[in-house]
Amino acid sequence: MTQLSPARSSFHPAVESDEWWRSAVIYQVYPRSFADADGDGIGDLPGITAKLPYLRDLGVDAVWISPFYPSPQSDAGYDVSDYCDVDPLFGTLADVEALVSRAHDLGLRVIVDLVPNHTSDRHEWFQRALAAPPNSPERDWYIFRDADPADPERTPNNWESVFGGPAWSKTPDGQWYLHLFDSSQPDLNWENPRVREAFKGVLRFWLDRGVDGFRVDVAHGLVKAAGLPDIDRTTEELQGEGMTTSAAPFWDQDGVHEIYLSWRAVLDEYPEDRVMVAEAWVEPYERIARYVRQGEFHQAFNFSFLEAPWDAAVLRECIEESFRANDLVGAPTTWVLSNHDVIRPATRLALAPEHFTSQLGAPVPAPNPELGARRARAATTAMLALPGSAYLYQGEELGLVEVLDLAEETRQDPTFHRTNGERLGRDGCRVPMPWQRDAPAYGFSESGAAWLPQPTLYGDLAVDQQEGEDGSPLELVRTLLALRRERALGTGSFDFVDLAAAAEARAGADNKASAGSGIVAFDVTTAAGTTRVVLNLGPQAWPIPADARILAASDPSVTDSVPTDCAVWLAIA
Ligand code: GLC
Repeated sequence: MTQLSPARSSFHPAVESDEWWRSAVIYQVYPRSFADADGDGIGDLPGITAKLPYLRDLGVDAVWISPFYPSPQSDAGYDVSDYCDVDPLFGTLADVEALVSRAHDLGLRVIVDLVPNHTSDRHEWFQRALAAPPNSPERDWYIFRDADPADPERTPNNWESVFGGPAWSKTPDGQWYLHLFDSSQPDLNWENPRVREAFKGVLRFWLDRGVDGFRVDVAHGLVKAAGLPDIDRTTEELQGEGMTTSAAPFWDQDGVHEIYLSWRAVLDEYPEDRVMVAEAWVEPYERIARYVRQGEFHQAFNFSFLEAPWDAAVLRECIEESFRANDLVGAPTTWVLSNHDVIRPATRLALAPEHFTSQLGAPVPAPNPELGARRARAATTAMLALPGSAYLYQGEELGLVEVLDLAEETRQDPTFHRTNGERLGRDGCRVPMPWQRDAPAYGFSESGAAWLPQPTLYGDLAVDQQEGEDGSPLELVRTLLALRRERALGTGSFDFVDLAAAAEARAGADNKASAGSGIVAFDVTTAAGTTRVVLNLGPQAWPIPADARILAASDPSVTDSVPTDCAVWLAIA
């Protein structure tokens, strides 16, 4: 039962609910880079299971695991060749069951990844389609089109792959098939009822094995506009600022929603709250909120928050609009700064405004590491106080940086290869986790093997270097998560606080300078009291009032003021 508390007229009201996902902190595990139990240099399910106590101690509520299904690994497992099994690289079905059961014993929930927009070209559905003649029922599982007899080399339309190059490839018999991503990832035809039925079976397969939910890959892509019309913009332009993604005939089409209504009905047949979270790169806020309407997804990733540059006004507006849009449909807002597709925040947040980019790791000049580390800690500190659900990507709690200088021959992201290296791709945020400074592969794998080389800096940032170290990023996140739980911040009410006005009033008419204007400040109120969060992105330190008590600070040296690029949590009377 969920109730929005009517008592207070807060900007975002408190939520009284026993639904765990409304306020959960969810940790993303990228299996190939988390922990390698069998020594082949690629992380695996037994590796994850062994580290679950670390996640319990960190203080998260749930784990989302990126794909571990059989796959040729052309897109690191997002090219699935069998939705109901496990790739031997990662383990077995019995390993999944052991992982889920251990997680549940530790009080952690488990969310798995579902990739419905496309399969691998090795999937038996696609192999069957290729073996069958054009226009056969087998081909109707995918999006095939005849070549133009007058110009057989012309693609059926001008759509581009997200990873670069055309979104069409040719079969040996001359037909074209659509792939919004790599040519090894053909798009399924969601107009075909058989495809819809097949995926309900996949949902049940994993729900029967006890998983608590699904993160749905490319949830905004399944339905394409009728007739597959040409588009007058490149994919890159569409992803650029200010473009509403529904302007593209392959993103955010209204028809996707009936698919999710039908999936939700399947989830609701199961006991306990099983959840779906949408990976939908959709703008503006009202469009993304459509995915979390009654009877559809429980959550959608808030990518506007992730993509916000280091600017107080932009952040404030993003928080405001996120709450506004989600509250209207009764859904929790999610907060996310990092995942396996974007430049790590400890690097991204220090990029100069003209180089600021969040996605797919375009080549950027190496930014100042101290500045990045400082801002990432401040951003995480502010994020973990926000009501709703928050996501952490593995290594974010260690302050890991993007590895920008990976040698060409080690790079595996199809983006790098499809753009001839013009776009570096996402390998830099996927480098294996450092657990121990003085162990082979920094404790990632006993054999010392690692599928991507780890920089020496990762040794200094290893878990064993941070554990118990006051002021380390890891201890900061542990403290924040413990306080978040203790003060029930995830379900609190939220109000902005105008510190700029207060500072101006204090400074008097002659000194209206900007003490406070670069600040994002807000109160989160629960039965435990009011937690005031002050995030300073401006040039001037903000003096902490004498009657406020510091609960946590992103900069451990903070005593009486909040300096630039720092965030604090204050208990106020
Ligand atoms: C999603 C995944 C990304 C993958 C793509 C294609 O955006 O997060 O890693 O490459 O979908 O499946």
